[in-house]
Amino acid sequence: MSNSKRFIFILLALFSLVSVHSLTLSSDISALRAFKSSVKPSSIPPNSCLATWDFTTDPCSEPRVTHFICGITCSGNRVTHITLDSQGYTGTLTPLVSRLTQLIALDLAENQFYGPIPSSLSSLPNLQQLILRVNTFSGSVPQSLTSLKSLLTLDLSRNSLSGPLPNSINSLTSLTRLDLSYNRLTGFLPKLPTNLNELAAKANSLSGPLYKSSFEGLTQLMVIELSENSFTRTLEPWFFLLPSLQQINLANNSFTSVVVLKPVNIYSQLVAINLSFNRIGGFLPANFADYPMLRSLSLSYNRFRGPIPWEYSKKNGSLQRLFLDGNFLNGSPPAGFFAGNTVISGSLGDNCLRSCPVSSELCLKSQKPASICQQAYGGKKPRS
Ligand SMILES: *[C@@H]1O[C@H](CO)[C@@H](O)[C@H](O)[C@H]1NC(C)=O
Ligand SMILES: *[C@@H]1O[C@H](CO)[C@@H](O)[C@H](O)[C@H]1NC(C)=O
Ligand SMILES: *[C@@H]1O[C@H](CO)[C@@H](O)[C@H](O)[C@H]1NC(C)=O
Repeated sequence: MSNSKRFIFILLALFSLVSVHSLTLSSDISALRAFKSSVKPSSIPPNSCLATWDFTTDPCSEPRVTHFICGITCSGNRVTHITLDSQGYTGTLTPLVSRLTQLIALDLAENQFYGPIPSSLSSLPNLQQLILRVNTFSGSVPQSLTSLKSLLTLDLSRNSLSGPLPNSINSLTSLTRLDLSYNRLTGFLPKLPTNLNELAAKANSLSGPLYKSSFEGLTQLMVIELSENSFTRTLEPWFFLLPSLQQINLANNSFTSVVVLKPVNIYSQLVAINLSFNRIGGFLPANFADYPMLRSLSLSYNRFRGPIPWEYSKKNGSLQRLFLDGNFLNGSPPAGFFAGNTVISGSLGDNCLRSCPVSSELCLKSQKPASICQQAYGGKKPRS
């Protein structure tokens, strides 16, 4: 070997040694250091993932025997996933996490992170999963998050977030799952991302009507869980005709009316509808019986009046669970409910029904006192 070749060889050997020792990009290392130092040391148990992040070895170097054993995944020299264990880690989420520009998943679920969700997360162009479920993050959902074009899952449920939803949330063009349940969000539902499969914002203080424009183009939406909010006014026919809908839960809101059309020329996949605990008046929508897959219908504790449509008891119908208790329904319930081979369970109690056979499980809960029913029907005797 000539001297110059030997020199190059030594250089290369040195270089490879150095690169093993500092495999991870230095800005990723400093971001990880900042991440860990914003977690209170006293909340890091000895055998937890974060306890093994001690920076005496390189975070991305394999095999991981004593250091960086869990909570982190790399690809080459870049950190791609932070998936913390649920240990009750307490602390804030440092805005410097945005230096991990190759991050695909950030999952801090079921800990005690608090403070704002950093708006700098918007500079993570590859982020697909942002899961901050069950923590105590507060403040608003940052408007800047809506620039995360790769985001598939956004789960901020069970935190203390407040204020309105970002009105550009529909720019999350890849988003399929949005869960904002159990926060303190207010305001109305803005235009939603069109690729959503699942929309959940249960137990907030969202209000206003459900606008058709919010749901325009949501052809893949299967689950709507918006119970325990303050949504108002009319549920219009288009709502039940969203083409992929399977489950609707709007219980415990303030809707006052519902209009349902038969699903003509649409293959409806609706399986379960829960509109209980609203203020919906008028007659029961007979057209629900025309939804071919509908197995569970709950309209309990509203202000429905008039007779139960015979269509609900159709022999060839799909309904298996029917909850109509706590309304002002009158007349006799359809005989079909009590035929020998009926499969319907549920409740018709706490109404103004005449001759609900107590031998049927459907009629176990008793009817309203006659005086209340007379009052509800304008002082006249309930129509039979
Ligand atoms: C729903 O509303 C009813 C009546 O207002 C109330 O009794 C019930 O506790 C509510 N349920 C939930 C889960 O908030
Ligand atoms: C509908 O929602 C109410 C209120 O949250 C709940 O109590 C009830 O069990 C639900 N009904 C069905 C059939 O899931
Ligand atoms: C179910 O029965 C009704 C009449 O009771 C009939 O009009 C309807 O076409 C039947 N539907 C199916 C799917 O068989």
